Amino acid sequence: MKIIGTGSVLPKQIVTNDMLSEFLDTSDAWIYPRTGIKHRHVISDEKLEDMAIEAAKKALDDAGMKAEDLDFIICSNVVNEYITPSLSCIIQGGTGAACPCIDINCACAGFIYALDFAEAQYRAGRVQNVLIVCAEEPTRMTSWKDRNVCVLFGDGAGAAVLTAGDNIKGIKLSAASSTEKLYQIRKLEPTPYITKEEVDIPLQMKGQDVFKFAVKASSGDIQYLLDKLGMTPDQVDKYLLHQANIRIINSIREHLGQPEEKFPTNVETHGNSSSASCPILLDECNRKGILKRGDTLALSAFGAGFISGAAIMEW
Ligand code: COA
Repeated sequence: MKIIGTGSVLPKQIVTNDMLSEFLDTSDAWIYPRTGIKHRHVISDEKLEDMAIEAAKKALDDAGMKAEDLDFIICSNVVNEYITPSLSCIIQGGTGAACPCIDINCACAGFIYALDFAEAQYRAGRVQNVLIVCAEEPTRMTSWKDRNVCVLFGDGAGAAVLTAGDNIKGIKLSAASSTEKLYQIRKLEPTPYITKEEVDIPLQMKGQDVFKFAVKASSGDIQYLLDKLGMTPDQVDKYLLHQANIRIINSIREHLGQPEEKFPTNVETHGNSSSASCPILLDECNRKGILKRGDTLALSAFGAGFISGAAIMEW
């Protein structure tokens, strides 16, 4: 397939590091050097489904495509207010599409997994036009009393429209189950028969383990694809990586021996918006004219599971 349109939406509330230090034992002096984050956009009166629909409409506009021409909608989401119906089904109605839709939860790697699913459906001859929307509100998963975790995240929605083409050169998906390193548990409705103890646990993270996994998985996935395609890191024009931490991005960059200008970032102003991070960055680069037609792009993301993935495509 090929990507022919992108869109993104951020919540209006901006929360700076200094604002966090008003109610948490933290500081810009701690957060910025360790993460590269200065501020993040946090949901206040917005609904995530509205942001997802708006991002989808922007991507359709950019693609010059009508919603009724879509053959499939894939929504990547970890958490939103609806347990059911699926966010993709809400997006289908909100955009006026009539096609089947599916939600996936691959944590922060969701955009890469969605690309793979779209490409597989296309190669099977089942679809021509696919909308991917990644919509996330990780700020609702963390305890805002836990400085280890809440300072890292921001919310947002990013979308991409794909159509027939051979621009996707390769996708590598990986998983390495390690469920105690990054997880959240929610309590379900009780029944008269539940005898086990159940608890609500906000997002928990072993930061240094996640950091090590992220660098190894992301540089490994990209290198695997480059080798498979007979390419060198120099042949990639832009690396669009999951925006979790500037130090993670820089470590991956050093592994690949590539210059900083090939790695556009927005972690400084957005924080980590989970699977929305890659398509938001893609949209911003697209709209700012940072991507040139014919450029080779490498996308890569990693997250809870652990799950990771990378894609190499022509823009
Ligand atoms: N403000 C001030 N102090 C903080 C803090 C904060 N927001 N968060 C943690 N600390 C403290 C801890 O309590 C700990 O204190 P202690 O040593 O007295 O116990 C100390 O800082 C930890 O510091 P350090 O070990 O130097 O942190 P780090 O260099 O490992 O950085 C992360 C922590 C979280 C920034 C880093 O591990 C990371 O980015 N990991 C990856 C996280 C990620 O990307 N998750 C999402 C993946 S999709």
